[in-house]
Amino acid sequence: MSTLSLVEQAKRSAAFAAVDKHVTPSVRVLGVGSGSTVVYAAERLLELKNEGKLHPELQCVPTSFQSKQLINEAGLRAADLDDLVDADPSSTTYTAIDVTIDGADEVDAELNAIKGGGGAHLREKLVANASAKLVLIADYRKNSQVLGQNWDKGIPVEVSPIAWQTIKRQLERLVPRSRALGVLATSDAFELNHPVATLRNAVRKAGPVVTDNGNFILDVHVGRIHDPVAVEQLIKMVPGVVEVGVFSRMACEAWFGNEDGSVSMRI
Ligand code: 5RP
Repeated sequence: MSTLSLVEQAKRSAAFAAVDKHVTPSVRVLGVGSGSTVVYAAERLLELKNEGKLHPELQCVPTSFQSKQLINEAGLRAADLDDLVDADPSSTTYTAIDVTIDGADEVDAELNAIKGGGGAHLREKLVANASAKLVLIADYRKNSQVLGQNWDKGIPVEVSPIAWQTIKRQLERLVPRSRALGVLATSDAFELNHPVATLRNAVRKAGPVVTDNGNFILDVHVGRIHDPVAVEQLIKMVPGVVEVGVFSRMACEAWFGNEDGSVSMRI
């Protein structure tokens, strides 16, 4: 009998279903996301490898230190994003990776997502952006109509440590800033008139969390996000912001493990 909790079982079901559909023997380059749900994707990859069902020269592109460890532990070959070559140099989109499978903190009805709960969203976005397909995997708690509906920890924003307090103050003035810029129709983009940005601290307040890239993370609370594209652009425009954990219009598919043991797919 399975000893996994409902949530863990849901993560595992979503991960297995997505890997089974997308990691076929024809896939040569695979992006491997980060987080606890991706651990189950790696478990399934190892099974498929042992069954001889993966491309013999499969290369896996990690999105974090954890992700690289998962790839290594599964006996798969890790590849550096920058060492890959463009699959089709004449294409208008750069897609060196066939498919990336990654977790999410929340996914809305249109497949926009919040990511970065584990602080890996800079590399996750780089890898996703170089992928022909981004497939998200999550348990039922992450399945929302609107971003901010279920995820109450704010938007993860990776920032330069040299001016994190200045960046925090700027992020808390997103509304007047957007009006002054006059470039984005943000009055309805998110719920709160006064966003709050908090520095992410390590467990037991042992100082700030430092990302794989040596930066800090501000979690920015804006309430519900009605216009993910505008919010992503607006935050990205603040100098010192390295990457924002809003992934608007990037995913092509999301798999959710449900409480009743079933799996749903959203496209
Ligand atoms: C890390 C991420 C993760 O994919 C996201 O936080 C989901 O994690 P989990 O699968 O543990 O719920 O974006 O930066």
